[in-house]
Amino acid sequence: MIRLQHISKIYESGGQQTAALREINLHIKPGDIFGIIGHSGAGKSTLIRHINLLERPTTGQVVVDGVDMTALSYRKLQEERRSIGMIFQHFNLLSSLTVKENIAFPLRLAKLPQDKVQRRVKELLGLVGLESHADSYPSQLSGGQKQRVGIARALATEPKVLLCDEATSALDPQTTQSILSLLLAINRRLNITIVLITHEMQVIRSICDRVAVLDGGVIVEEGAVADVFLKPQHRTTRDFVAQVADLSEMDVPGDRSPGSRTRVRITFIGEQTYEPVLYETMSEMNVPFAILQGTISRLKEIPYGQLVVELHASGNEAAQTIAALQSRGLDVEVLTYE
Ligand SMILES: Nc1ncnc2c1ncn2[C@@H]1O[C@H](COP(=O)(O)OP(=O)(O)O)[C@@H](O)[C@H]1O
Ligand SMILES: [Mg+2]
Repeated sequence: MIRLQHISKIYESGGQQTAALREINLHIKPGDIFGIIGHSGAGKSTLIRHINLLERPTTGQVVVDGVDMTALSYRKLQEERRSIGMIFQHFNLLSSLTVKENIAFPLRLAKLPQDKVQRRVKELLGLVGLESHADSYPSQLSGGQKQRVGIARALATEPKVLLCDEATSALDPQTTQSILSLLLAINRRLNITIVLITHEMQVIRSICDRVAVLDGGVIVEEGAVADVFLKPQHRTTRDFVAQVADLSEMDVPGDRSPGSRTRVRITFIGEQTYEPVLYETMSEMNVPFAILQGTISRLKEIPYGQLVVELHASGNEAAQTIAALQSRGLDVEVLTYE
C-alpha cells in the first residue's frame, strides 16, 4: 500500500543543514495499522508528512497504492491527496465553523453536490458518535470530541489511508483509549490502512499490527508488534517497552541462593497463555520452580504472558528443562546461570 524507498530528508535553514531522515525504507501493507514510535525530534512528523508529500524527500521515492507520489504534477498530487486523510495532535479544526461545517469542508473543496454533502456528513457524524453535536462549535467540545471531528473530516473523502500525527498525545489516558478503539473500528469496518506516529508504547500495544522505531532519523528496529514488544533488540526500543510498567523487572527479588538455580524469562503468546504448559512440563521433568514475577496482558487482541521463573535446577538438568519448554513452543530466555 505504502512504500518508502531510500528516503532521506535534509532541512536547510540559515546555512545550517539538519538530516531529519536517513535512508528510510518501509513497506506498509494494505489494511495494517502501522505504528512509528520515537522520541521528540526523532523525525516522526517529517516521516509521516512524506506519505502525502506535505514534505518532499531530498532523495528517494514515495509510492502509495502503486502511484509514485514524487513524480506527480501539482494537480495530480492534489487529487491523490484526497485518498489520504490526516489527523493531528491539536486537531486543526476551523474554530469559526460548526462541527457539521468542519466535516463538510473537504467535500466542498471537492465540489460535491449539496445533497450528497449533507448525506455524507450525517453518516460521518454517526460513525464517530457526534450526532448530537452537529451544530456545536469546536470551543464547546472536549478534546476527545474534537479529535472525533478531526477523524470524521479526515474520512469525508473516503480515503484509503489515514495518517495520524500524535493524534492522542493531547488527550488523557481514558480518552486516548476511546479514540484508539474508534481508529481500530474504522480500520476494520472500512478497511482503511492506518499509519500512526506516537511516543507512547501503550498506543502501539493497543492497536498496531506492526511497528517501526525511529531514532535520530533512522529506523533502528521494525517488525510485528508482538515480536518487537516481547523481544526488543535495540536500546531505544527497550526504553519504550519499559514505559509499559507491567513488563519491568523492578519487582523481581534479588538472587538469594545462586548455584543450584537457573532464572529464566518465559514468554507465552496466544492460546498457550491460558494452558498449563509450564506446570505440565515441570512435572514431567520433575523440576521444582518458583514464579518470581508475572504478567498476562494483551497486544491488540492477542493474549500474551511473561513470567520470570526460577528453576531449582542447574547445568544439564536446567538445559534439558529449557529444551522441554521450548519444544512446547514457549520462548525461553536465560537470565542468570549459576
Ligand atoms: N521545517 C523544518 N526546518 C528545519 N528543521 C526542521 C523542520 N522540521 C523539522 N526539523 C528538524 O528535523 C528533526 C525532526 O523533526 P520532527 O520530524 O518534527 O520530529 P518529531 O515529530 O519526531 O518530534 C528535528 O531536528 C527538527 O528540528
Ligand atoms: Mg512531531
